[in-house]
Amino acid sequence: MQFDRHRRLRWTPGMRDLWRENRLSIETLMYPLFAVHGSGVREPISSMPGVEHLSVDELRREAVELAELGVRSILLFGIPAHKDERSSEAYDERGIVQQAIRAVKEEVPEMVVATDVCLCQYNPAGHCGIVRNGVILNDETLPLLAQTALSHAAAGADLVAPSDMMDGRVKMIRSALDERGFEHVPVMSYAVKYASAFYGPFREAADSAPQFGDRRSHQMDPANRREAIREARSDLDEGADVIMVKPAMAYMDIIRDLRERFDVPVAAYQVSGEYSMIKAAGLRGWIDERAVVLESLLGLRRAGADLIITYFAKDVARWLREERG
Ligand code: PBG
Repeated sequence: MQFDRHRRLRWTPGMRDLWRENRLSIETLMYPLFAVHGSGVREPISSMPGVEHLSVDELRREAVELAELGVRSILLFGIPAHKDERSSEAYDERGIVQQAIRAVKEEVPEMVVATDVCLCQYNPAGHCGIVRNGVILNDETLPLLAQTALSHAAAGADLVAPSDMMDGRVKMIRSALDERGFEHVPVMSYAVKYASAFYGPFREAADSAPQFGDRRSHQMDPANRREAIREARSDLDEGADVIMVKPAMAYMDIIRDLRERFDVPVAAYQVSGEYSMIKAAGLRGWIDERAVVLESLLGLRRAGADLIITYFAKDVARWLREERG
């Protein structure tokens, strides 16, 4: 009788630990945060239980707590006080994100602060660029995105992450940063960002739902795989340092494709809808939330993600700490 005994390597926890191919560690998770104006604000986001809008003073406290837990990097989003056609708060040096960056860097200088660069929260139409006659204009939007990225770097951001999906924005942002002495600030581009229904809860959180139309003229068609390679290649040619796939769990083949094709770090964004689905089922007791979260993140690592952006990062930090005892 001849057959393979795969179970030989699985008998005991110690044995399983020895042969484990992938691991999850807090260093590779980035935690998104939503900054709002005001003080003493900690406002729960109803579509994302456990996620809150934080005013800048609360953000300071949060950053300290995160650092103590071992969370090493955050991704900042801002909810502006005011929206206008030119999305001016996006690149205002006193804007909400710029204030948040300065506060976090002051409080916890070693925290890696990344910022989302987009205009959709900042204009009344809720679109990622300048809109004229119902059309989202590409080239006219680019200077505003570059200005936004520059203002983030000037406030102290360590990393800028353009999520708008306009063509040519990485190039424009890279040269704006280089011209102004920020050649050391990396660009992590949302290179492969699909037009996804999984962003639903985020749009409530960020008040950024499009007021007409949708994002399908710039975000990618979920049906497409080859096109992801073209998107990623363009962003790398334009100077991106890290390429991101978003959402994550429904696009693990794409994460793997980019991992095998390119020798740069690949990030995956486990987005709001992915978070809320797991959270909802967990709250009802239908699944074991902790186990499912850890399995989902490990799966993304196995698919090839170097960095994972996830709203579960803070929970994971606690759980990993508990496991270590
Ligand atoms: C901004 C942006 C979005 C997300 C990140 N940056 C929303 C969108 O494109 O509509 C989604 C994040 C999430 O769902 O967690 N353009």
